Amino acid sequence: MSATFVSLRSRNLDAKCARLFALTIIAIFFVSKPVWGGPQSLAESGTGSNAISSSYVQQGFDISPIPESQLNLKGKNHDLVGLGSYLVNAAGDCSGCHTFPQFLPPGDSAGSNPSAGDPFRPTGSSQSTSAQLSANFNVAHYLAGGQCFGPFMARNITPDSTGLPEGLTESDFITVMRTGEDIHCEKDTSDPICSLGPHTPVLQVMPWPTYHSLTDRDLKAIYAYLSALPHADPCNTPADGCPGFSGAAAESTSYAYPNTNDCPNPAPPQ
Ligand code: HEC
Repeated sequence: MSATFVSLRSRNLDAKCARLFALTIIAIFFVSKPVWGGPQSLAESGTGSNAISSSYVQQGFDISPIPESQLNLKGKNHDLVGLGSYLVNAAGDCSGCHTFPQFLPPGDSAGSNPSAGDPFRPTGSSQSTSAQLSANFNVAHYLAGGQCFGPFMARNITPDSTGLPEGLTESDFITVMRTGEDIHCEKDTSDPICSLGPHTPVLQVMPWPTYHSLTDRDLKAIYAYLSALPHADPCNTPADGCPGFSGAAAESTSYAYPNTNDCPNPAPPQ
């Protein structure tokens, strides 16, 4: 492969997608003990927690924006939840799309670490190459959705009133992650978030073709972590809509949700 080809390829790839892809590949090879062998081995790969290295569990709990003490671990496999946090927060970038705004500005005490602020702020990186990420996570709205991608809005994947993430059972969740089937909107057609964009047979923004290749064990771990989260409500709702497409923001280029400490609008970095 020539150098020119490589640089053309990398210019064409969206940086975020490239990072997500790379991290997911890393997760497949290093987190999952079972050796890759095609779809058959995905289904058969380890279901117990014995194979989970304690360092992934430890790192998962250490980096979860919601501290372990605030996770609902009752009836759940502790190590599976820890691994799930590792996959969600260190590899899958679920929060990059499903938490909005993801970070709060320095000094905003509604966040996880007000002295850290938003890692994307345009002042140059102050991140260490060896310590944990320094960031003020928007914990009150962690994984509650609301970010728009054109007409499509990221869903709230925290537990709903039934206690299940977006009302999905574990088996529903695995189907969504492997096939892109929009099971939530099939079950709950009256949810206004389902009629925001044009109807599509499969999820359009969710990187499910990448998540498809995670092992059963890893998908179950992600599900266990999502199930352990506190319920959260989104800053930007279907009524607020998507800029240029729907709701109160239909005629605008900006979001319409009310500007508050935990829901800064415009979302940082500004
Ligand atoms: C690139 C942005 C992006 C990333 C990264 C992302 N999602 Fe999504 N996700 C979306 C959007 C947008 C939707 C809804 C609309 C669509 O995709 O068409 C969605 C939908 C979903 C749904 C709902 C499916 C249904 O049937 O209701 C689930 C569950 C979900 N995401 C979980 C996750 C998890 C878990 C991760 C991380 C492993 C993740 N997402 C990462 C953007 C993203």
